[in-house]
Amino acid sequence: MEVVKTKFELQQCLSGKGKNMSVGFVPTMGALHKGHLSLVDIASKENDIVVVSIFVNPTQFNDKNDLDRYPKDLNSDLALLKTVNCDVVFSPEVDEMYPDKDDRIFNFGQLEKVREGKHRPGHFNGVAQIVSKLFDAVKPDKAYFGLKDFQQLAIIKALVKILNFDVDIVPCPIIREYDGLAMSSRNRQLTIEQRNESALISQTLIKARNLIHHKSVKELTEWVIKGINKSDMLDVEYFEIVDDENLLPVNNWDEPTVKVGCVAVYCGGIRLIDNIVF
Ligand code: PAF
Repeated sequence: MEVVKTKFELQQCLSGKGKNMSVGFVPTMGALHKGHLSLVDIASKENDIVVVSIFVNPTQFNDKNDLDRYPKDLNSDLALLKTVNCDVVFSPEVDEMYPDKDDRIFNFGQLEKVREGKHRPGHFNGVAQIVSKLFDAVKPDKAYFGLKDFQQLAIIKALVKILNFDVDIVPCPIIREYDGLAMSSRNRQLTIEQRNESALISQTLIKARNLIHHKSVKELTEWVIKGINKSDMLDVEYFEIVDDENLLPVNNWDEPTVKVGCVAVYCGGIRLIDNIVF
C-alpha cells in the first residue's frame, strides 16, 4: 500500500501501475470504520487498483465547531487500510486541494433544498467541490459511496452529469453495529450512554417498516419522530418519507416510487443520520 500526499505523486504512482488498469475509488474523510472497509472490499472485487482518499474537507462544514472536533487519526486509518485490499492512499493537505479559494457554486435544484441541504447550508456545494477535485486527481472508473449518506449519493450522481465525469457511481449498503446503529465516524464522538441510546434510531426505523400497512405516511412519520424523541438524549431534526429518485416527500403509500425514510437526530451535540427503504 502506497501513501501519497500530492496530486503529482498520485499520478506518478497510478501511471507506474501499468496501462488499462481499472481504478476503483473510495473517497473518505478518515476516522475509518467497517463501513469504509466494506466499500474498499467491494471496490477491490470490481477493479484492478483501489485508491482511498483521506481528506477532511473544510468547505463542506457549515459549522466550524463540527470541523474542529471531526475525529482525525491518520495512523490508525492507515493501519486499518492495510488489513484490506487498498493499493493507494491519497491524503493531501488543505493547500494541495485548495491552492486557491474555490468559488464554484453548483446548482443541484431541489436536491439541495431539502433535508441535509436545508439544515446544512453550503454543505453539498462543498461536497461537490471536493469530489470533483478528487475525481480530477484520481480519474476513477468507478467510485463507491455508502447509502447512509443517501442525499449525498443523489448529489454526486447529479454532479457527474453536470461535469460530464466518465465514472460509475456505485451505491453501497449501510453497515450497522450489532444493535443496528448505522456506522459513522461521528459515533466515536458519543459517550457510552449516548452511543447505547442512539441504537433507538435504527430500531425505530426497522419497527416502522413493519407498520406501513397499518399507518398512513403522515401517521408513520409522527410515530417515528415520537418514538425517537421518547429518549431524553435524542432530538429528531427531521424525519421524512421520500421518493428515492427526486428526494421529495411522498404523501401516500400508493405512489409508484421506492420510498425511503430519512432521519437526522441530535444526540447531545452530535448529529447522526440514517435511512431505511420502505
Ligand atoms: O462522505 C464523506 O465522507 C464525504 O462527504 C466525502 C464524499 C469524502 C467528501 O468529502
